[in-house]
Amino acid sequence: MATLWFRADQRLVTDTAEVGRELGAIGVTYERWGTTKMPANLSSRALGDAEKQAVLAAFAPDIARRSAQCGYKTADVVTLYPDTPNLDVMLAKFDKKHGHTDDEVRFVVQGRGVFTLFPEGGPVIDAELHPGDFITVPKDFTHHFVLCADRQITAIRLFTDVGGWVAHYRD
Ligand SMILES: [Fe+2]
Repeated sequence: MATLWFRADQRLVTDTAEVGRELGAIGVTYERWGTTKMPANLSSRALGDAEKQAVLAAFAPDIARRSAQCGYKTADVVTLYPDTPNLDVMLAKFDKKHGHTDDEVRFVVQGRGVFTLFPEGGPVIDAELHPGDFITVPKDFTHHFVLCADRQITAIRLFTDVGGWVAHYRD
């Protein structure tokens, strides 16, 4: 389950409801979709096309609900792991402060990652996401993203427009 780390006062939040409230207060949507619907036979790292389709099918009702609420048009599954070709090049695009012209919408299937959130006028928050966590970082919200030490994550992504996910750097 997601945890929040407030850098300024070194405060850790681990309670799921509190995570939702804290993120909601800065306009970031957090939901706990959980892992009980996850297909049982996923490979540990790189998912094949059939496994990706199984993940999308398992969470189709949740995807449909969020898409209807927010106007997302497409969904896919991305998988990154230590052997992913050009992993460092890919990660370097998103580990600097940036924003997008579309929401950044992620549901974590496997692995972990950290969105660092920079709300205007508010404290910086490191939001570590685990399997079963869903987050929407709104368009134009300044953030960056890194993997954890095990360098692997599989996530569902929802898009209004795939082109909207280009990073626009802040500094
Ligand atoms: Fe981003």
